[in-house]
Amino acid sequence: MGLSSAILHLFYKFKLLLLFTLCMMVVAWVTSSYLVDNIQETSKVKILEESFMKAAMLEKENQQTMEVPTVKSTMSHCPALSPYLQGSSKLKFKASLTLEEVLKENSQVAKGRHRPAECLALQRVAILIPHRNREKHLLYLMEHLHPFLQRQQLDYGVYVIHQAGNTKFNRAKLLNVGYLEALKEENWDCFIFHDVDLVPENDFNMYMCDKQPKHLVVGRNNTGYRLRYQGYFGGVTALTRDQFSKVNGFSNNYWGWGGEDDDLRIRVELQKMKVMRPSLDVARYTMIFHTRDRGNEENRERMKLLRQVSQMWKTDGLNSCSYKLLSVEHNPLYTNITVDFNISPKIS
Ligand SMILES: *[C@@H]1O[C@H](CO)[C@@H](O)[C@H](O)[C@H]1NC(C)=O
Repeated sequence: MGLSSAILHLFYKFKLLLLFTLCMMVVAWVTSSYLVDNIQETSKVKILEESFMKAAMLEKENQQTMEVPTVKSTMSHCPALSPYLQGSSKLKFKASLTLEEVLKENSQVAKGRHRPAECLALQRVAILIPHRNREKHLLYLMEHLHPFLQRQQLDYGVYVIHQAGNTKFNRAKLLNVGYLEALKEENWDCFIFHDVDLVPENDFNMYMCDKQPKHLVVGRNNTGYRLRYQGYFGGVTALTRDQFSKVNGFSNNYWGWGGEDDDLRIRVELQKMKVMRPSLDVARYTMIFHTRDRGNEENRERMKLLRQVSQMWKTDGLNSCSYKLLSVEHNPLYTNITVDFNISPKIS
């Protein structure tokens, strides 16, 4: 063993050292990368966890918002007497009233429909308004009727049934059409058959149906607030879906003014039902002045027709109401149904 072997030995030691250092470096690298990975993993897990929590919270919130309808269906019924009723009011009819103003005042009404947000309405009520060439009257009625119905906490929809063409006006048949068409949209509980020129003055006059057919116009300003005559059943009446179907609706045979309302009263009486009326102090209306329209002349046949109700009612009514539906438009304030009665006699 000489110098060279000593050098060799040193060299060998050096190689070992080098190998050891290399090994340590590898170990260090592996552990460090593992640690980094691990840290990254944990932070990844953390992020996942957070987002999961967020998602869970969102879901919870969603569930809470999703639960609203079920809450709604278990929402309690509106009280028998709405707390928003104001009683009698002096109605004003501003000559300059525009559709824009009425729309602005009733922005919460959509497609002529509204229901209370705070409670479940006691009845679903369809208001049916026969109409032709009375745009200004319709505007006044919309202005007053929407807030009136909302104060009564009703789930309601307004339908205007418009007779196209210039054949004689047939109010009763238009109301039959309104009933049939409105039931295609919703299973309404109650129907209010409403003239366009009568505006209710007192919101205690409830637009709801009762156990018996109800006549809502006891007094009007143009009759000194007295019933027009014993047995009068015109202007505004309220019948349930079943009461109206039981009498086979209105007759379709009354062209021009008058008689169809008496016909309906006779149908009601034939079914052993009894017309009821609210008290005179609430069942008050203002009639917006107008002259009789062309196409709505007095019906001279009406007395003859009225004598035949007991023979006619079963075959003349809802079950024989034929019409041509021209359009159903959903306006903000009402659903506009336009029909053509091309089989009607022409205006002479
Ligand atoms: C009823 O009131 C309306 C609206 O104020 C008015 O236009 C009409 O002339 C009144 N009718 C009668 C007979 O007083």
